[in-house]
Amino acid sequence: MSNLSMSNCLQLALLFVSFFIQPLHADYNVISFGAKPDGNTDATQAFLKAWALACDSVTATTIYIPKGRFLLRETVFRGPCKNKITFQIDGTLVAPLDFRALGNSGYWILFIKVNGIAVYGGRLDARGAGFWDCRRSGKSCLVGATSITFNWANDIRISGLTSIDSQMSHLAINRCNNVLVQNVKLIAPDQSPNTDGIHVQISTGVTITGSTMETGDDCISIGPGTKNLWMANIRCGPGHGVSIGSLGKEANEPGVENVTLTNSVFTGSDNGVRIKSWARPSNGFVQNILFQSIVMRNVKNPIIIDQNYCPNNKGCPRQSSGVTISRVTYRNIQGTSATPKAVSFDCSPTNPCRGIRLQDIKLTYANIAATSSCKNIGGTSSGVLMPKSCL
Ligand SMILES: *[C@@H]1O[C@H](CO)[C@@H](O)[C@H](O)[C@H]1NC(C)=O
Repeated sequence: MSNLSMSNCLQLALLFVSFFIQPLHADYNVISFGAKPDGNTDATQAFLKAWALACDSVTATTIYIPKGRFLLRETVFRGPCKNKITFQIDGTLVAPLDFRALGNSGYWILFIKVNGIAVYGGRLDARGAGFWDCRRSGKSCLVGATSITFNWANDIRISGLTSIDSQMSHLAINRCNNVLVQNVKLIAPDQSPNTDGIHVQISTGVTITGSTMETGDDCISIGPGTKNLWMANIRCGPGHGVSIGSLGKEANEPGVENVTLTNSVFTGSDNGVRIKSWARPSNGFVQNILFQSIVMRNVKNPIIIDQNYCPNNKGCPRQSSGVTISRVTYRNIQGTSATPKAVSFDCSPTNPCRGIRLQDIKLTYANIAATSSCKNIGGTSSGVLMPKSCL
């Protein structure tokens, strides 16, 4: 008996000692793989060497990026890996100044087929201005890169990341499950073309909280196949708002369902909450959507459904959207519209919107009640309704 407890005690002591001698997380500092924090030396190979070791580690690991600027070319962090990997970033990752150096893949930093990745802190500077200039000049300019992309990834956490001046989107989440994005800042000039904040598609269980987007396109754009998306405490603007769509570009397309946006503020944005589909045949759908407790400050289209999207009238003349929109609730939405029409529902003549609910809406334009318009829509309204409901 006493022998047994003696050996138990010894085991416990050994465990205790080994805990302090051997850190549970092996740390890979990119500096020790040759990365230089000078903003000029290409650090891509150093990052990939650290990744290779971390990815092969059977224990959870941390890749550490200290203060300073690290030049990264197009970088693919490929899985599957043997255990969880955390990026702890105190520094800034910068893209090559010449946008052509990122090539035509559409990515700058890409995580693919990885599970259990966390990215804490850090700043991404894609230096997109050269690319925007090229696009504005009408020249042909390559496809442009999303700053950070997750493809086929599960159990992802991104916290405290700042991204500035992306060429295209800042952050893309594609074919992922269980993603938490919190406390991120995504910044680009309001005139920068197609700089979406976050693009989500074909993904389930994405949560975005406590984040700021000041950018040139949608703050958050929600593509086909998005399910169980939760967004809270979002500050958007300038930008094009939070947009479900564009949907229905393809005839065969997965739908969008169970999306919530709550406790959020839009400031000076082109749109607030928008649902947008192409005026083309499609089997896509949008259902079970809640927009709740939202403040609009000087927003051009605070509440909008547009099912007649057809840029340059190409590919959809005289057609109507096949996307069916149902069970969308707008509750407790207040503030100011920058245009007289604060609520605009332009649904498909062949697939009218159904089950749309307006509850406690108070939107003014120049200190008077704004107006609303309805086309091809059914639903109910209750509570304070300003503008008067057209449902
Ligand atoms: C809807 O999504 C939330 C996460 O935003 C999730 O907790 C909930 O279970 C989902 N509801 C359904 C019916 O799937």
